[in-house]
Amino acid sequence: MGDDGFAAVDAYLDGLFGGDDPALAAALEHADAAGLPAINVSPNHGRLLQVLVLACGARRVLELGTLGGYSAIWMARALPPDGRLLSLERDPRFADVARGSIAGAGLADRVEIRVGRALDTLSDLERDDAGPFDMVFIDADKEPYAEYLQAVLRVSAPGTLIVADNVVRGGAVAAASDDPAVTGVQRFNAALAAESRVAGAVIQMVGAKGHDGMALAVVR
Ligand code: SAH
Ligand code: DHB
Ligand code: MG
Repeated sequence: MGDDGFAAVDAYLDGLFGGDDPALAAALEHADAAGLPAINVSPNHGRLLQVLVLACGARRVLELGTLGGYSAIWMARALPPDGRLLSLERDPRFADVARGSIAGAGLADRVEIRVGRALDTLSDLERDDAGPFDMVFIDADKEPYAEYLQAVLRVSAPGTLIVADNVVRGGAVAAASDDPAVTGVQRFNAALAAESRVAGAVIQMVGAKGHDGMALAVVR
């Protein structure tokens, strides 16, 4: 089965589970109209993130990499009414697009987007003792993923679920590479495997967006 078959299965699953509702579809339309790249998670993987928020009973979720707010909407919907999602985004224009879509989804009171480089914002969060978060979704630029892991651990506590997107990259992680995004996630995967403070695993995923994977780790 190749990419067409993977996309067909995603379409089948979207048919069963519902795929995008109007607010999620609108978020993708706004992002497209504003020229944002279509590198959001798929509907099926958004649904997985939602299940993970519920599985760990998260009240406080941190996201690195907002883009147009698509994954943020999936996760924020699984929060209890007093739950909060903080999403970090470098590009102020992307953050504005996301804020509009999140408000359109009725989630403006649950989601805050903070603009800046994620490593800087993470330092601020640590300094301000803003943690611990119950779940963290790492999905910003790939080169500093290993540094993101260390920074995220400083705003985590035992039981925090850390999820990281795009750690397989079409299988490119299995061979030597000079692509900085690939070497970035290779460094992340190695650091996760060696990190005694977490129990982690990486799973390969296929679907409408091809072959990639997510890391899942729980802080001991
Ligand atoms: N989570 C989103 C997709 C995120 S794409 C979704 O699934 O819907 C990656 C995002 O990370 C982009 O919006 C990009 O602008 C942002 N980004 C890249 N480098 C960053 C950095 N250093 N700090 C914060 N955000 C960054
Ligand atoms: C890229 C980033 C992502 O977060 C993603 O899900 C897919 C691709 C990228 O930068 O190429
Ligand atoms: Mg991603």
